[in-house]
Amino acid sequence: MTTVTDVIAVEKEHVLQVYRRGSVVFDRGRGCRLFDTNGRSYLDLISGVGVASLGHAHPALAAAIADQAQRLVHTSNLFFHPLQGELASRLSALSGLPRAFFCNSGAEAVEATLKFARRYWFAQGTPRSGFVAFERSFHGRTMGAVSVTWDDHYRAPFQPLVPDVTFVPADDVRALTAAITDRTAAVIVEPIQGEGGVRPISSAMGAAITEACRATGALVIADEVQCGLGRTGRAFCSSRIGLQPDLMAIGKSLGAGVPIAAALFSERVAAAAAFGDHGSTYGGNLLACRAALVFLDELEGGLMGHVARVGAHMEAQLKRLQSRHSIIREIRGAGLMWGLDLDRPAAPVVDAAMQQGLLVNRTADTVVRLLPPYIITTEEVDEGIGLLEAALAAAFGGQQR
Ligand SMILES: Cc1ncc(COP(=O)(O)O)c(C=O)c1O
Repeated sequence: MTTVTDVIAVEKEHVLQVYRRGSVVFDRGRGCRLFDTNGRSYLDLISGVGVASLGHAHPALAAAIADQAQRLVHTSNLFFHPLQGELASRLSALSGLPRAFFCNSGAEAVEATLKFARRYWFAQGTPRSGFVAFERSFHGRTMGAVSVTWDDHYRAPFQPLVPDVTFVPADDVRALTAAITDRTAAVIVEPIQGEGGVRPISSAMGAAITEACRATGALVIADEVQCGLGRTGRAFCSSRIGLQPDLMAIGKSLGAGVPIAAALFSERVAAAAAFGDHGSTYGGNLLACRAALVFLDELEGGLMGHVARVGAHMEAQLKRLQSRHSIIREIRGAGLMWGLDLDRPAAPVVDAAMQQGLLVNRTADTVVRLLPPYIITTEEVDEGIGLLEAALAAAFGGQQR
């Protein structure tokens, strides 16, 4: 039998060492629970970083994947198949953006939005190259996406990046207005910054983006890879801050674990695209589209309302937790996307949580992040917060209120 030690040893030897993984090997899941190779159960409040939206081993998803695998998995984009147009039209109805380009990851979706923002200006005959992005942003690891990602940790080893990117503080409306000019192709924003520490962008900033883009013609790109598609109990978060994006990147929850992402476009941006401009071998294959259609069926069949209801309960419970623990400086987020900002590094809590059988993660050094599956129940939220409280006590002992 392969042991945990064997798994770790072979990875250490043959897998590029870019991930600091917890020392556990999962091989089974059900609902909001994962099981390790020793049979121990963990309550999963991170869902593979916001991806396993339907939880694990969801019966309808499993049946659809099995059925599709027996029928046809992949044909490439050389030919038509029946599911891509159907998925695009469902996403169009949900987002108000009429066209989709399918790819395989959030970074690729962001990459497509950056390319087609420039493509739009090229088609106008007045090329623009500039992008305005926000401090604490995270948009992915490809060269374009990392160029609009703020933290130097992700950028420094890979210089030079795509030029002509200006970063502004997310709370500085004047800096934003000064940065967006008639050379700006687009401004890119996560309506709730995820990796940057679960930080919602304010409505005042949303209004300033809208106004500056109206005045200069710059396009608005919403990166809804983490916060979109029902994660906060509404279809997308752009509308919460009054944004009407011209382009949008989505991913994570969309395939409920099967890799699929998309860039969505307004008609005027899409009109600039020509055959051969962009492409992906895998993008939007039958298996991935089938999974995404199951996700949308669930989302629109009552799951979005469930997220809103359970999310409200989770918010109330987290605020109660905060009132008992002075080391929690702030609770930020919405729906089922939450960050607990501590007055110290969050890593010990994440480790202690795992000892308690709870999976959460740390982001932006001091933030414990929770991104549970959309199917989580109020009872599981209560159980998770109980375990988190035990983890806080185990990590920091008597230093609490
Ligand atoms: C807002 C946002 N954009 C883009 C990405 C990149 O997605 P992926 O890791 O699927 O490339 C992420 C991933 O965390 C994200 O949170």
